[in-house]
Amino acid sequence: MPQNEPTTATTGERTGGTGPGDAPAGLENLLHETRAFPPSSGFAAHANAQPGLYDQAREDRLGFWAQQATDLVSWRTPFTEVLDWSQAPVARWFGDGRLNAAYNAVDRHVEAGHGDRVAIHFEGEPGDTRTVTYAELQREVSRAANALSALGVETGDRVVVYLPMIVEAVVAMLACARIGAPHSVVFGGFSADALRSRIADAGAKLVITADGGYRRGAASALKPAVDAAIAPKEGAKPTTVEHVLVVRRTGQDVAWTDHTDVWWHEAVEAADVQHTPVWVDAEHPLFILYTSGTTGKPKGILHTTGGYLTQAAYTHRNVFDLKPEDDVYWCTADIGWVTGHTYVTYGPLVNGATQVIYEGTPDTPHQGRWWEIVEKYGVSILYTAPTAIRACMKWGSEIPDRFDLSSLRVLGSVGEPINPEAWMWYRRVIGGDTAPIVDTWWQTETGAIMISPLPGVTAAKPGSAQVPLPGIVADVVDDDAHPVPDGGGGYLVLSEPWPSMLRGIWGDLERFKDTYWSRFPGIYFAGDGAKKDDDGDIWLLGRVDDVMNISGHRLSTTEIESALVSNELVAEAAVVGAADDMTGQAVVAFVILRGEHASEAETDEGSAAIEKTLRDHVAQQIGPIAKPKKILVVPELPKTRSGKIMRRLLRDVAENRAVGDATTLADSSVMDLIQTGLAKPSSSED
Ligand code: WTA
Repeated sequence: MPQNEPTTATTGERTGGTGPGDAPAGLENLLHETRAFPPSSGFAAHANAQPGLYDQAREDRLGFWAQQATDLVSWRTPFTEVLDWSQAPVARWFGDGRLNAAYNAVDRHVEAGHGDRVAIHFEGEPGDTRTVTYAELQREVSRAANALSALGVETGDRVVVYLPMIVEAVVAMLACARIGAPHSVVFGGFSADALRSRIADAGAKLVITADGGYRRGAASALKPAVDAAIAPKEGAKPTTVEHVLVVRRTGQDVAWTDHTDVWWHEAVEAADVQHTPVWVDAEHPLFILYTSGTTGKPKGILHTTGGYLTQAAYTHRNVFDLKPEDDVYWCTADIGWVTGHTYVTYGPLVNGATQVIYEGTPDTPHQGRWWEIVEKYGVSILYTAPTAIRACMKWGSEIPDRFDLSSLRVLGSVGEPINPEAWMWYRRVIGGDTAPIVDTWWQTETGAIMISPLPGVTAAKPGSAQVPLPGIVADVVDDDAHPVPDGGGGYLVLSEPWPSMLRGIWGDLERFKDTYWSRFPGIYFAGDGAKKDDDGDIWLLGRVDDVMNISGHRLSTTEIESALVSNELVAEAAVVGAADDMTGQAVVAFVILRGEHASEAETDEGSAAIEKTLRDHVAQQIGPIAKPKKILVVPELPKTRSGKIMRRLLRDVAENRAVGDATTLADSSVMDLIQTGLAKPSSSED
């Protein structure tokens, strides 16, 4: 059968009313999906993951994971125990084993004779390039590890990494791992305030940053945010940071504090190229990564070493069908997000892959930049987010059509549900109608991919992540934790522990238990609504909590509301994620102004000025990614009798829909007031 002829599968119909109720609109109105794309027989025959993997994992799940840990990871001291779940929900995987993550990602490949293999093809946004072999990476990581030790960083100390997507970002993470100092990477788009709170929560001793990075054709600064984040501030505890290690990337002028600031190139060049990795317990913390939750305070998601590396390597090998000798792999995620941790730094390197790292945006200096990179390096596996695919779709197929993309053989998607139109475009225009697409569902908390087709096994359905990977037990349950039948909708849960699961929220065990393990006692609740189709395949329907997903980036409604009310203009604020064609969801804020400012919004200029002030304020408090797309000044907010804001109704307004059931409102006239007030058009888009 030709590859572009989909077979007809049973319907993946999605209707509304999935139980969780508040799943974002738009996702629920999806089509009757009847297409399915099985792998070609050639692909299937040579795939790393064969159908037997499911049986193997089902027959002996723990034995299966032990096998993966043994096959894919090198242990200094082999483990004898697979899982200790006696302290649930804090798991211990491979607990008595000892290893080092950087040794696994780098040294062992050199020892195996692959020192000359390219680890990283770096492509800077201005067009500068750098090729780093595994042998070179070993020297650079070793030097950086020695430099960190020389600056007083010891095993167990936390290091914050605030860098652009450059080679040093990966080197910095691995240098930390090499000495057993957990890293906490903060996305370079976060503001000084956001950085300050993460540094403080992690109690970081050192920050690694750069003078700046290149973005959209210009150098943008990073170090000033670090300076501001560690400067004394009224009401804040003195910073725990002793040194700031600064990579010179752009050459722009930076303010310098002699007793704290150290140039990376000076410290690293002065350091010895020999370094013995620090062997740590399997459960030694590898990193903390902050992510948005349902409250205003970001959660420091804690991942440890042995189980995380095992699942990172296993998923990267099987979901992307990686053949390290032949493939050129490229994940477009920034290391500031979990995808950049597991599928840029750890998974590919532990598997000895050759990968591309690109610093900039897809449309700089032209909208074909990504495809130019694919052609130039012969990228064979591409992993990106639906929002980027939709942007490329909008720019038009003629742009990718100008490049030779025939090297691509596996395409991945992550971060948000991919709409079937984008899926089909991705397959046809980028994948030449043959490359399997793997739609991978997972979270910062899960550490690695959990639900995804296997490219050589599964007949892929556009828009569905489909099946839990071998070794993973996931289900869709109703309010009472009962699995829903095929065709039913409910909440996505993970019913058995998995190796790369989070081990907690940094410094807050109670919040960990409460957030993930209390909704359905003993079962991990992911926060996503989902539906099973008639084949039992899983379709993700979006978050059912107060977390939004903007361009695949997680933001919390409460966090943005707190930022808004911290401005003197605002008395109250409610934020919703409204469906958006490009970014999946967009931030829409409803604000009530303080009495003395209320009249300022009465003129068009006045309300435009207020919107601008508030948008800038959010950017300063959190970062530009959190800026509301729209801010609507309203006289009241819809609340239940117990005072809970009914965001569902505001979402109806934001999405220009008829307002749904408002009977539980304390004051039913509020919605009329809001809608009358909004009759005049408002726009505040950049
Ligand atoms: C969403 C990103 C549908 C989901 C790796 C999840 C997805 C949140 C998918 C985690 C997918 C991620 N289909 N939704 N393939 N992948 N999500 O922590 O709502 O940044 O809970 O991790 O993204 O976002 P996070």
